[in-house]
Amino acid sequence: MPQKGRFIFDSRPGKEAELKRLTLLNEYYRPFMEKLFKSYEKNSREREKPFKKIIDIGAGTGYTTLLLKFFFPYADVTYFDSSLDLTEAAGREITKQGCTVNFLKGDLDSFDFSGTYDLVFSRFTLKHLYDPPAAIKKMTGILDPGGRIVLMDKDVTANIWYPAFPLYRTKYMQALNRYNRQTHRGGDSSVGRKIKYLLSKNNIVNITVEALQTSLTGPENTLYRQLYIGVYENLLPELVEAGFITEDDAHRDITALREFLEDTNNLAITFDFIVSGIKE
Ligand SMILES: C[S@@+](CC[C@H](N)C(=O)[O-])C[C@H]1O[C@@H](n2cnc3c(N)ncnc32)[C@H](O)[C@@H]1O
Repeated sequence: MPQKGRFIFDSRPGKEAELKRLTLLNEYYRPFMEKLFKSYEKNSREREKPFKKIIDIGAGTGYTTLLLKFFFPYADVTYFDSSLDLTEAAGREITKQGCTVNFLKGDLDSFDFSGTYDLVFSRFTLKHLYDPPAAIKKMTGILDPGGRIVLMDKDVTANIWYPAFPLYRTKYMQALNRYNRQTHRGGDSSVGRKIKYLLSKNNIVNITVEALQTSLTGPENTLYRQLYIGVYENLLPELVEAGFITEDDAHRDITALREFLEDTNNLAITFDFIVSGIKE
């Protein structure tokens, strides 16, 4: 059965640029992730129940998997992703760093996990999956009682823009929305705010929510701005190839987005939600 969802890397035109973007994204988020993993490491030590089996779902480039191995060196850490290209790239990087990690390649929708885990982690994957509520059910299903789940994702409807979001009502946005609808890609760009509720419906308790807000127009945030614009730039070849927009129209709209974000008088704030809890 063909894979469903919004981030099917291997068949994506222009995937090299997206791989580069994902690598830069890891650099950008690294300090935050280190702080986050360190807090769980301290927590697990103090509870005298260190994590033994960890899985990183939709692990992509494998950088978060590597960090997990670094913070939890005695745990059995598993990388899981549906993309062959990304699994191979992650495999090369992890070997280069001299780390040992298990690799599982599969589609979360249909994969039959043989084991369970005491830490299930997933970053920036949930919103791309065809059916995020079903994905949360699956992720909590492989979590041991007493184990921790940590999900990190965005919510585009939480973003604050002033003046209005520059892609609003543009040909680009119309094309992207039509593409998502007509090709039944599922997913949910507003999933961030829903994670807490969805976890609570799947026997997860003691849920904490952290919202990380970042300004896209801050003069110091060049890298974050580029990462954000890159999402739209890297989707462009796919939209053009599928016949939903011309390259000229798409470039024009993306240039307007870039100009908006480079104007420090404008306001553009985005949110990442980091939601975590324990299985009953
Ligand atoms: C935006 S990337 C995030 C990668 C990584 N977690 C990070 O934060 O850099 C989304 C990842 O989810 C993977 N993915 C998408 N659909 C999937 C599915 N159905 N099952 C497993 N992995 C999937 C993609 O291959 C990709 O690596």
